[in-house]
Parts: sequence; structure tokens; C-alpha cells
Amino acid sequence: MFSRTVVATAAVALVLACVTDVTEGAEVGLGSPAPGLAPRSLLCYIASWNGKFRAQDLNPDLCTMTVACYGRLEENGSLREGSGQEEIRLLEGLKALKTTKRFDLALSIGGWAEGSERFSAMAADPAMRRTFIESVIKFVDRYDLKGVEVSWIAPTRRGGKPTDRANFVTLVTELSRALRALPTPVRMGVALPVINENLENKVLEAFDVTALAPHADWMLVQGYDLHGHWDFFTDVNAPLYSVRPNDNVTVSHLLKAFLSVAPSQRLFLGMPAFGRTWVLADSPVPGGLGARTELGALFSDAGMLSYQQICQDFKKDEDDEDERQWSKSWDPVSKTPYAVTNTRERRGFVSYDDPQSIRIKVKFAQDFGMGGAALFTVDNDDYSGLCGTPYPLTRAAQSALQD
Ligand SMILES: *[C@@H]1O[C@H](CO)[C@@H](O)[C@H](O)[C@H]1NC(C)=O
Ligand SMILES: *[C@@H]1O[C@H](CO)[C@@H](O)[C@H](O)[C@H]1NC(C)=O
Repeated sequence: MFSRTVVATAAVALVLACVTDVTEGAEVGLGSPAPGLAPRSLLCYIASWNGKFRAQDLNPDLCTMTVACYGRLEENGSLREGSGQEEIRLLEGLKALKTTKRFDLALSIGGWAEGSERFSAMAADPAMRRTFIESVIKFVDRYDLKGVEVSWIAPTRRGGKPTDRANFVTLVTELSRALRALPTPVRMGVALPVINENLENKVLEAFDVTALAPHADWMLVQGYDLHGHWDFFTDVNAPLYSVRPNDNVTVSHLLKAFLSVAPSQRLFLGMPAFGRTWVLADSPVPGGLGARTELGALFSDAGMLSYQQICQDFKKDEDDEDERQWSKSWDPVSKTPYAVTNTRERRGFVSYDDPQSIRIKVKFAQDFGMGGAALFTVDNDDYSGLCGTPYPLTRAAQSALQD
């Protein structure tokens, strides 16, 4: 372990020495491109938001790579440590699981809560990038990581600056080269968010996808959170196609935008294992999409429900026909299901994905020659089999990839 760290650190120093010799703004992407992942790969993200999921609940056999979310940054650019941190507990749990199960583990760094400030400062400064990369390699060693993903959600925004776009490429280039120089090469991923505020070409303004692509073994297209309670009318969390005319905030539209600037095999379609909820404003309750909504939590859910919770609710309905909570529908345009509840306690709507919509999306990704798919996140799936066979969404994705 120790000697491997020394070798690894020496390799980083070597790579960084070459890179920092190059003058600012010049080509840093020397060397061969990252090899990419095997075709039909499934990335399984794991976040453990609900606090119930334990590492031993994971079924890594369904996944090409399990990606733990999220490593966080310190002010000096290094990865945050400390046994009290939630991401460290997750990594420790997964490390313990590795003594009984074989699987490839990756760490995703960043996420929504990280914002841009620390990424922006670190990516702009050669010494801080070096600190970051050295700390990443420490984590690679400690947790036997086979992959590292940078999930910088909003370069140039949310505390970032215009130079982020170019600095991000430098960061990913250096990190990718350092990871590939390790005795056991480690794969590199980049998350491409399509969150609401980044739409309308803003994703491509913030990310130089074409320059990033050669250095990333995978690029996660985050095909979810496209609509939510912030819209004030019911819509679809992850629509393949839009239910409204002139609306291009769809998975298919965004994929096509990315496919026009990056090789298809590098792109992975991220699909949600959670639903988004709305509180309906009008009474009597209108049936479906496009209904007026108001702010508020449908349950104690902050606008999101795990697939496990959704399928459990539906199961309860089947068991007790007289106390039905939900009426389910399939929207043929967006190719996703939704459900409406209208009880004394609540009037609400949930847009979610089920095995059928997951299969349709995977088929779409395959038709465009994408590298594979990703489930965000597997701990939101019915991992313990409360509604039937465990991991219905993850299984649907995995089997559709093999078709
Ligand atoms: C970065 O900051 C953290 C937290 O303050 C500290 O533990 C770590 O040693 C620092 N790393 C470097 C290389 O300065
Ligand atoms: C989406 O549609 C709007 C209005 O039709 C258009 O202005 C915008 O450029 C489109 N966005 C993309 C990413 O094509």
C-alpha cells in the first residue's frame, strides 16, 4: 500500500511537471486518449440520501461500476477527509463490502451542494490542481478506486468565473493523465448536468464537451430533474420527448445536443430512480400533466420520492382496493409514467420512471450508439425487494443494455 502510494505520487509529479511546463492556454492534452469503458456498461450511482441504505444492500453484480457520491473539496483544493463525513462513511462501508464482494468502485467528486467556488479556484491554480490530484490518488489507494468522476455541476456559474470552461479542461486533462499513469490505471468520468438553469445551450457554454471527451472514459448525461415543482405546473421529471410544443427540455433533445459535439461511445445516459412530486393547487383535482401546482411537500419529501417508496405505495393500493391512494397513468409522449393522488390529506402528482420507461430510454441510447447507461441512484431503487424482485430499475437497465 505504502510503496504504491509513493510510486503513484511520483507518477503524478512527473505528469504534472510535463504539464506545467506548457505555457498557459497551449495544448495540454498530449498522449493517447482515454480508452473508454466496455460497450453496454451500466454505471450505478449510490448516494445514500435516505440514510436507510447500507453498503451491504448493494448488488454490484448488476453494475459495471459502482459510483459513490460525492467527494467534497477543502478550501485548499484537496479532497475532504474525516470519519464524520457522510461520503467517508459511505466509502468505508463500500471498502468493507469489498472483502466479501468483487466490484469496481468509483468516486464522484462535487455534486450540487459543492457549487463552483472551490472547483473554480482549484482548477485555475496549478499548485492547487496538484494538491487536488495528489489527494485524489490518496483516495484511489485507500479505497481501491477503479474510477474517478468530476461532477462540477455549474462551471462559470454559481460562484464560478468565465475562465472555468477552459480551466476545467486543464483539470480533467491532468487528472486523467495522472490516473492513467498509475500502476493500475484508473478510469475517469465527467458529469454533464442538464439541470434546469443550465438549459438552452448553457450547458455547452459552460462545458467544452468536445475538448473534455478524449480525456473522459465516460461522460454522464444527467437526464433527470428537467422539470419539478419549481415549474408550478405538473410536468415530467425525465421526459424522452416533450409533452408541450416548442419545449426542448427533453432527454432526447439534450442527448442530440451532446451527440453533436462528442463521440457517442463516451456518452452515458443517466436515468432517475426517483420521482419528482408536485402539490396540486386546484380542487377538484385535474387529471394529469399541465395542472396548476403550488409549493409545498407532498409528503416530507422536498419534491422527490424514491422509486422504492413509490412502488411500496402502489403495492399498498393493490392490497387494499378500498383505500386507494394513487391512480396511475402512462404518458405516451414523454414515455414515462405518472400518478395522481387525491385523498383527504393530500392532492398531488408524481412523475417517475419505471422498468418500462427505463427500457425505452436504454433502447434510445443504444440506437444512438451511446457507451451505456447510468442509474441515479441505485439506493433509490427498490433495493431490498419490498415490491418484488430487488432492484427492478437497475435490472431493467442492465437487461435492456444486453438486448
Ligand atoms: C488542505 O486542507 C485540509 C483541511 O484544512 C488539511 O487537512 C490538508 O492537510 C491540507 N492539504 C494541503 C496539501 O495543504
Ligand atoms: C430551445 O428552444 C428555444 C425556443 O424555441 C430556443 O430559443 C433555444 O435555442 C432552444 N435550445 C436549444 C438547446 O436548442
